[in-house]
Amino acid sequence: MARPVSGVGMAAVLAGSRLLPVLTVASAASAGPLADALAAGGARCAEVTLRTPDAEQVLKTMAAHGALTVGAGTVLTPDQAERAVAAGARFLVSPGFDGEVIDKAQELGVPVVPGVATATELMCALKAGLDTVKLFPAEPLGGTRTLRALAAPFPQARFVPTGGIGPDRLASYLAHPAVLAVGGSWMAADGHLERGEYAEIRRLTAEAVERSAP
Ligand code: 3PG
Repeated sequence: MARPVSGVGMAAVLAGSRLLPVLTVASAASAGPLADALAAGGARCAEVTLRTPDAEQVLKTMAAHGALTVGAGTVLTPDQAERAVAAGARFLVSPGFDGEVIDKAQELGVPVVPGVATATELMCALKAGLDTVKLFPAEPLGGTRTLRALAAPFPQARFVPTGGIGPDRLASYLAHPAVLAVGGSWMAADGHLERGEYAEIRRLTAEAVERSAP
């Protein structure tokens, strides 16, 4: 039997925002200007991936910035989940389904969004009491065609498709009623951050926010 969902759900955390910028930030020095640029572009939330040595500090700085609801991504272990929440993460995202990470998130009372690529993984998430999953990697899996096929048997599931999606494909995902938000790194890619192109990050974010408006 499915466990009840604990704490607040992902839909409440996103609060109507249908865009989730995914950030992999090499230097903690970028965190403040990046948060400024995303917020100025109209983003309301962001996911900081735990893929760089500075990620925890980036998460702390961006969470303390206050303009964005910040979560942690690439959460692979319960320990990472715990540290991310202590650093200010309001939600957790994982590239796959890991029962221990889900348990830890539920114990901490934060929404967790596991990556799923198959119906079996989606059933694991529903059984764990979750209602929102990350379809990952969305484009290589077959894009909106795969989304439609996977969503059909599970009307209770909500999706955050992520992986290979750019501005041109954003609207086609959001047109599906089961899609809560679309995630992606195109608004603040490695190159933009390395070169300090915050005006460009702001422009790309504003364009994506406009394209994701209901
Ligand atoms: C993620 O971590 O969610 C993905 O790497 C983001 O995918 P993208 O870089 O293809 O947008």
